[in-house]
Amino acid sequence: MSIVKGHIMEGGPLHLVGDFEIVDAAGNRFPHSGIFSLCRCGHSESKPYCDGNHRARRWTGCHASPAAEPTHNDATSIQK
Ligand code: FES
Repeated sequence: MSIVKGHIMEGGPLHLVGDFEIVDAAGNRFPHSGIFSLCRCGHSESKPYCDGNHRARRWTGCHASPAAEPTHNDATSIQK
């Protein structure tokens, strides 16, 4: 079992670190090992990856709901 750590970047992508696979709604598989930057702003030309367009669009992020506040430090762990 692997541990994947996620870090939500201020005004930027979600960084996931570990060995994992993301499957989109169409069933496309995105296997990955190492650091994966997942677009949160919706402006990337290479979704689901972040391509840096959040900076060009000056995306500032969104407010987290109180329920989404971190439980420890600034990282979240997901077990697969
Ligand atoms: S978060 Fe970087 S392009 Fe969307």
